[in-house]
Amino acid sequence: MKRILITGALGQIGSELTLKLREIYGADQVIATDIKKNDSEAVVGGPFETVDVMDVNKLMEIAKKYKVDTIMHLAALLSATAEANPIFAWKLNMGGLMNALETARELKAQFFTPSSIGAFGPSTPKIHTPQDTIMRPITMYGVNKVAGELLADYYYYKFGVDTRGLRFPGLISNVALPGGGTTDYAVEIYYEAVKKGKYTSYIAEGTYMDMMYMPDALRAIIDLMEADASKLKHRNSFNVTAMSIAPEDIAASIAMLVPGFELNYKVDPARQRIADSWPDSIDASAASEEWGFKYKYDLDKMTKDMIEKLRERL
Ligand code: SER
Repeated sequence: MKRILITGALGQIGSELTLKLREIYGADQVIATDIKKNDSEAVVGGPFETVDVMDVNKLMEIAKKYKVDTIMHLAALLSATAEANPIFAWKLNMGGLMNALETARELKAQFFTPSSIGAFGPSTPKIHTPQDTIMRPITMYGVNKVAGELLADYYYYKFGVDTRGLRFPGLISNVALPGGGTTDYAVEIYYEAVKKGKYTSYIAEGTYMDMMYMPDALRAIIDLMEADASKLKHRNSFNVTAMSIAPEDIAASIAMLVPGFELNYKVDPARQRIADSWPDSIDASAASEEWGFKYKYDLDKMTKDMIEKLRERL
């Protein structure tokens, strides 16, 4: 990993991953791309190109121009948005992935793309969901993620592309907001806690999902990409998680720092249906065994950092 191209660099993960990679590998070595441009640090702090991942020619041209040896493909629609527009989601999530994989094949580049807990479905074991298990998702996002995992593995077996991936849980951060995910409530709750001291959750009480703080997610991406290939039995994609929590758990954690914090519920049936089809808690032991996955932030440590950072900013 010496010269890296990122798609979706202005999204939830990309906004922070771009800066982190530039810190480690050098600002000029990380080429940020996105379909839109803004004046954020990812755009002004190093090379940036406007690229629509549906345009394979442009993607190839930019990858060749910078002679990249790694592609991190992050451009995608999240679960709730994909469910609202499934045909477009298939085109963007699968078409974009195929174009990014083809670019990696052409350049003999290493390849990363995130999968998700959304790749699982109602027939998957819900507790300690194993690395290798039943994957029959009932959302377009999940269908895209399972197909994407298989396609990325196929590029490894068939063409020798060094593809690697992580099944991310809900990611919580205080930098870029997620757009249209089912787990977004776990981010919004912190913003509203700091701004108003209360939050109305669209996910029902008692709904457990895995979550992870963004610094741990970024570390996991880098550690996986730097891992010794001979140790990897799996590739696409590894279960990773830091906590299995429900809305009331986050509320209790917040209430220790925001006295009187109030949590109410107004359940959104569309997103609740998605959440109910996902695991309660996944098992990340394959990631620990094969490339040493670990996390630093549990719920309370994450809450402390989130509240501190948001209080400074808002
Ligand atoms: N956070 C994502 C979503 O809710 C899950 O991968 O769509």
